[in-house]
Amino acid sequence: MSSNKTIYQPNPEFAENAAIKSMDAYWALQNKAIEDYEGFWKTFADEKINWLAPYDQVLDESDAPFYKWFTNGKLNVSNQCIDRHLADKAEKTAILFEGDRGDVEHITYAQLSLRVNKMANLLRNEFGVLKGDRVVLYMPMIPEAAYAMLACARIGAIHSIVFGGFSAEALKDRIEDAEAKIVITADGAFRKGKPYMLKHVVDTALSEGGKSVEAVLVVKRNNEEVEWVEGRDHNYNELIVEQPAECPFELMDSEDPLFLLYTSGSTGKPKGVQHTNAGYILWAQMTMEWVFDVKGDDVFWCTADIGWITGHTYIVYGPLAAGTTTLMFEGVPTYPDAGRAWKMVQDHKITQFYTAPTAIRVLHKMGENEPEKYDLSSLKVLGTVGEPIDPPAWIWYYEAVGNSKCAIVDTWWQTETGGHIISPLPGATPIKPGCATLALPGIMTEILSLEGETKEVGEKGLLCITKPWPSMIRTIWGNPDRYISAYFGDVAKDGKPVYFSGDGAVLDEDGYITIVGRVDDVINVSGHRLGTAEIEAAVAKDNSVSEVAVVGRPHDIKGESIFIYIVLKEGHINTDIKNHINTLLGEEIGNIAKADHIIEVPGLPKTRSGKIMRRILRSIAKGEEITQDISTLEDPSIVEDIITKAREA
Ligand code: WT7
Repeated sequence: MSSNKTIYQPNPEFAENAAIKSMDAYWALQNKAIEDYEGFWKTFADEKINWLAPYDQVLDESDAPFYKWFTNGKLNVSNQCIDRHLADKAEKTAILFEGDRGDVEHITYAQLSLRVNKMANLLRNEFGVLKGDRVVLYMPMIPEAAYAMLACARIGAIHSIVFGGFSAEALKDRIEDAEAKIVITADGAFRKGKPYMLKHVVDTALSEGGKSVEAVLVVKRNNEEVEWVEGRDHNYNELIVEQPAECPFELMDSEDPLFLLYTSGSTGKPKGVQHTNAGYILWAQMTMEWVFDVKGDDVFWCTADIGWITGHTYIVYGPLAAGTTTLMFEGVPTYPDAGRAWKMVQDHKITQFYTAPTAIRVLHKMGENEPEKYDLSSLKVLGTVGEPIDPPAWIWYYEAVGNSKCAIVDTWWQTETGGHIISPLPGATPIKPGCATLALPGIMTEILSLEGETKEVGEKGLLCITKPWPSMIRTIWGNPDRYISAYFGDVAKDGKPVYFSGDGAVLDEDGYITIVGRVDDVINVSGHRLGTAEIEAAVAKDNSVSEVAVVGRPHDIKGESIFIYIVLKEGHINTDIKNHINTLLGEEIGNIAKADHIIEVPGLPKTRSGKIMRRILRSIAKGEEITQDISTLEDPSIVEDIITKAREA
């Protein structure tokens, strides 16, 4: 077993053919960006994007922080991902689908083109979906989800995908915030060998609100029976047959919105992160080429769900823009056994495998020696994303899965960044377990204090991105003020507000960045981002609850788990508070928001001005000694009571 102080050099054979072959090549690019930022981006925008009309300015900062990139340029993302590949890749597999039950389908670029064109016609002609309209997708992991995304891109509609694990209430909120015109869903799909249902969640959401929705388009996947609202619900499989095979694409402006994706923040309800056409697709494609080094007949597999940004950028848009083969998987990597993922790597000769630390820990725990039963020699690059990866999981991934010859790219980024920000380059960067290493060429990160001072080596600080980049969030849908306050309200450098990610980070003596996790009230459960305020608001809806505080607690597999403190109203007794509250959370947000610990306490630790001391609650949840001064609390004795309760839990 290697120690976690080891530095792992890139595989020289791999480096020889890599897009970026050495640290010298990395620095040549990064220095060019430092010297001539706009020139750097212009080079790649000109080389990578199929412009349908030229842009006139690379970066417009006149209305900062509402940055604009490649102003007045025209393009279409479905053209970038499909049409332009048809000349030489029509028969290449674009999407390689594997169902939960092992059914496999190869969808070529030509077939993808046909299906996307037909779906675009269906949306445009049958439902009157026009440029700028919002389309909500509540979909399982089936190819039709990708067709729907690309069909929206083709006609200029703005998609907003809601992860299938969210509840009807959460779906309704997102439909209403976006004022969606149409919802695309499926009867359900298969998971662990059994059918599961989705459509009824849409029915419930729309029975409670979502009045803007005119139609629901239902894809049949598992053919289970579903309720049908005449006039509102439409059968995709029947309607698609009659659609014309060609749908001319809309000329989109660089800055037209491509999609919204709701994500949790430290305050309030989830925010609709808005991404654009040009900047987003440029960086999605470039990071596929640099970070995953896709080329030739590579088969790329990202295990995320399309309901998250990772699924958007690295299952659909990035791989297809790069003209590669992307694997889409309906099931879970541990079913029917802990070898499923490795069998799939073997069967499909996967070259790049991209997953989350929580999945790596589960696969490790369930099947430490499973990888050696399969031929994993096709693998070249292994990726991880979503949360800090602990060195033991990293080392198992490197040695057992990668056979000590694949680079691990620990990619740090966010829904808001659109694509990778900090990551090793597989042919260039010497890597260290658990370390995201360096900002990618063209990206300017700094670790700062709240006052914008640079932190010293070894000193924890706030991870900021100090220059705008093409794939950055443009605004929060319907709430530009919140865009400013959420991302540009905390840290200013030399008097100028800079983008603050919400993460803490630290630099080491080699200039490498290690992410230490969120420093705001956002928690990360199995790579799912949840705001404590959002969970608290859901719990507070229960009429027996007087006060509630939610914190994260470290968890071996999930990274973090949810820990809830509840004060009941006078006269209320709740004997089964955990089940009671978790049922409520399942309804209000979804099963991903269920808590591992829910304890009833006599009160919360507050300052005399009434502010809840969350740091104390976090320490108690972790089982740590309380080192903070508690004498300033309104009622210091409450801390002992809470500690006793927490120990019993
Ligand atoms: C948050 C963003 C980006 C796609 C998946 C999650 C955490 C992400 C890493 C990493 C440590 C990471 C951060 C970030 N995170 N990647 N490689 N190392 N932490 O997207 O839901 O927008 O969450 O995930 O805390 O802020 P998201």
